[in-house]
Amino acid sequence: MDPMMMKALVLCGGKGTRLRPLTYALAKQLLPVANKPVLFYILEQIQNAGVQEVGIVVSPEYREQFKAKLDQYRDWDMSFTYIEQDEPGGLAHAVSCARHFLGDASFLMFLGDNLYQRGVQKFVQNFIVSGPDAALQLARVENPRQCGVAVLGEGNRVLRAVEKPEDPPGNLAIAGIYLFKPVIHEAIGRIRLSRRGELEITDAIQMLIDMGCRVEGELMEGWWVDTGTREGMLYANRLILEEHGRRAVKGRVDGASEVTGKVEMGEGTVIENSMIKGPVVLGRNVLVRDSYIGPYTSVGSHAVVEGSGVDYSI
Ligand code: TTP
Repeated sequence: MDPMMMKALVLCGGKGTRLRPLTYALAKQLLPVANKPVLFYILEQIQNAGVQEVGIVVSPEYREQFKAKLDQYRDWDMSFTYIEQDEPGGLAHAVSCARHFLGDASFLMFLGDNLYQRGVQKFVQNFIVSGPDAALQLARVENPRQCGVAVLGEGNRVLRAVEKPEDPPGNLAIAGIYLFKPVIHEAIGRIRLSRRGELEITDAIQMLIDMGCRVEGELMEGWWVDTGTREGMLYANRLILEEHGRRAVKGRVDGASEVTGKVEMGEGTVIENSMIKGPVVLGRNVLVRDSYIGPYTSVGSHAVVEGSGVDYSI
């Protein structure tokens, strides 16, 4: 199999209640981290893995936002299909909404609000070579009660998968990146609603195991952040600026200002009587006057910062 024969599915439904009031205006997957929408980091990883057909599951009220944002940035070497999920009925419900788009293809699935340090090229290649029915990225966590948890056996085989267990059978969390063969649809067809009233992908994975299918787990390298909370967004902003921050000063800095470290400034940005301490990213046409900014701060295009001190912020 070639990655080009596979599809990708990014789950961007849901209501984003934990990020209110921000999500009253914008879907959380479109909120910026280091001045780039969270979803774009994921799409870049999908593109790098060689998958070209991407389905994006969205809540109906956000559909136009997603389309507008993705159309605005035309460098993608992939096609996008928007799939509406009327209610956030769970991750397995989101997959069933995409049944028509997915057809009989194997597919790579991402949660749309999680960020990962490393890409998925190797994960996809291993899946193609080793040919299991499903593969999961796993990460050790301190709070497995809040996650889907997997138990690994010999040869990286997943022996058990359980969603938000009260009594966790281990500390390996299912980290939000999955690979499935089409048999997952049959498994989803056989599961019931969970206690919280959702169709859980973790239950569908357990069903695959019960059906005798081969499910493999792979320990993830690098960091993983759920950006679905304010703390998560700020933490991801910090990690990304730390890793990808660079010095590229455009615009104008007056003689009374100082700009030190990895500071990226867009065209038309003006710094007057201020101190900018990287890592910092400032968009285009930003005005900073009589202020102090940084470190670990992202400021969007056209913002005005006056008489203020801002650090560790978006
Ligand atoms: P969550 O963050 O678990 O759910 P949520 O978006 O409803 O957020 P909150 O808890 O703050 O209300 O979802 C993880 C990802 O999966 C996120 O990108 C949204 C997506 N998702 C769907 O696409 N469909 C669904 O039915 C659910 C529950 C989530």
